[in-house]
Amino acid sequence: MDYTIIIVFLSFVMGVVSETEILCTTSYCTSYITEYGCNSLYGACRAMNSTYHGTYLPYPAACNCCDYCLQSLNEGEICVEGLPGMLPPAEMCGLGLYCTANENNPATCQQLVSHCTNAQDEYDERAANGTLGSMEVRPLCDGEGDFMPAHCIPGSICYCVSPYGDRIFGEIPYKNPWDVEQMTCECSLNAWKAQNTLDPNYTVHVARCLSNGLFDPLQCMNGPNGTCLCVDSFTGSPRIGISTVTVLELAEDSPTCFDPTIHTNGTYDTDCEEQYNTILAAIDSYVAEGNTNHGLALPSCQPDGRYARVQISGSKKICVDPSGNQIESYEAFTNSTAADIMDCNCARTRWLLKQAGVVELPSCCNFGNFEAWQWRRNETFCVDVNGDQIGREVPSQNVATLACYQTNIGDPCLV
Ligand SMILES: *[C@@H]1O[C@H](CO)[C@@H](O)[C@H](O)[C@H]1NC(C)=O
Ligand SMILES: *[C@@H]1O[C@H](CO)[C@@H](O)[C@H](O)[C@H]1NC(C)=O
Ligand SMILES: *[C@@H]1O[C@H](CO)[C@@H](O)[C@H](O)[C@H]1NC(C)=O
Ligand SMILES: *[C@@H]1O[C@H](CO)[C@@H](O)[C@H](O)[C@H]1NC(C)=O
Ligand SMILES: *[C@@H]1O[C@H](CO)[C@@H](O)[C@H](O)[C@H]1NC(C)=O
Ligand SMILES: *[C@@H]1O[C@H](CO)[C@@H](O)[C@H](O)[C@H]1NC(C)=O
Ligand SMILES: *[C@@H]1O[C@H](CO)[C@@H](O)[C@H](O)[C@H]1NC(C)=O
Repeated sequence: MDYTIIIVFLSFVMGVVSETEILCTTSYCTSYITEYGCNSLYGACRAMNSTYHGTYLPYPAACNCCDYCLQSLNEGEICVEGLPGMLPPAEMCGLGLYCTANENNPATCQQLVSHCTNAQDEYDERAANGTLGSMEVRPLCDGEGDFMPAHCIPGSICYCVSPYGDRIFGEIPYKNPWDVEQMTCECSLNAWKAQNTLDPNYTVHVARCLSNGLFDPLQCMNGPNGTCLCVDSFTGSPRIGISTVTVLELAEDSPTCFDPTIHTNGTYDTDCEEQYNTILAAIDSYVAEGNTNHGLALPSCQPDGRYARVQISGSKKICVDPSGNQIESYEAFTNSTAADIMDCNCARTRWLLKQAGVVELPSCCNFGNFEAWQWRRNETFCVDVNGDQIGREVPSQNVATLACYQTNIGDPCLV
């Protein structure tokens, strides 16, 4: 592989293999505890009831051999902000609370304010003042105030979001609540972090994802003679004890995580990646001949290696399914204004829901975006670019009272 390596990928390969397997054996911990002992747990950590509880953390010494737990402080209690070199604290602010400095007063545990908690507050206010739509979903925040990785639209899809709540790669049809628990989006987040923290001038090779944002259980590195190994789909950690093969040796059951419905004998490249490499080689040879006006467009591939939703085809942009086939007839001339805002989110949602046998499908503009308002039964409501409802629904005949109807001067596909 070129300059960049699978940074995130390698870091967990090294982490798991070198630390867990070689150093941190049960016998290592047994002798560690014999030699150094473990501190007894605070009362709060043993009680663990609503008023008196603690937070378990990784033990701050090699191998996490001892249980380690700090007493949780409640909102408004005085806390100490950690400083480098200080002794480890005995207590810390509980879930959702952060130790926040107050002018001239000691720091106290306060509700965390973040993009996500702000979004929750706005949701709660609108629920109270009656401006909330029936299909709007309260944002879910984690203990650090970040958005939880999966966002689901009732009757539609779940998609992965970044810690800031922006949509990232990874989606599934939303059929039952159990789907969400499975949708941890770790691979999508891994790809998102790599794209946002590494030098954008280099192509970043990150672990291959599945369409739902989990890790592809088969990961290969370094071209045809490179190594393939099996990983855990949720964490991306290598599964120990499964023999590796080279890419050229890939075949059914070799290695055991090879899945013939998504993997191909003898190669790890997908159709999109192969097409990308072929066209790139053609462009290079045109350019070498001094011909820069070759008219060739590279396909755009997703973190699962399949086709991204918007592709260029001749003088048009088209919406495609993951295999690269145009969805219905969603398209726009590349020279049009629609092409500039074309996201194909609606076209892809329709495709995904149809695959899942859903009959109530969203209405899309002919260039593949969501129409600004959608219809359900007798009602109509505004949506955003991902099809999430914004604001309260109204009876269909009152469509002209919708805020989005007014800003779009009656055109659901205004460009
Ligand atoms: C929580 O546990 C502590 C210590 O065991 C006890 O004193 C307290 O009454 C308990 N509180 C509740 C609400 O159960
Ligand atoms: C309802 O609350 C939202 C969020 O704070 C606010 O933007 C909106 O103006 C309020 N609407 C009414 C009618 O009070
Ligand atoms: C990426 O390349 C551009 C043009 O060569 C350069 O201006 C920019 O500084 C580079 N970015 C980084 C992060 O190195
Ligand atoms: C892969 O290995 C084979 C045999 O060892 C060698 O002939 C071939 O050149 C290698 N290919 C690449 C791309 O390194
Ligand atoms: C892939 O390899 C397996 C095992 O060698 C073989 O049975 C299967 O037919 C091959 N599939 C294709 C599509 O070539
Ligand atoms: C855009 O491109 C199409 C096809 O190439 C052409 O027919 C059309 O006239 C162009 N429109 C504008 C506004 O340039
Ligand atoms: C549609 O609206 C009418 C009158 O407002 C109502 O009687 C009917 O139950 C509604 N149908 C549905 C499916 O909501």
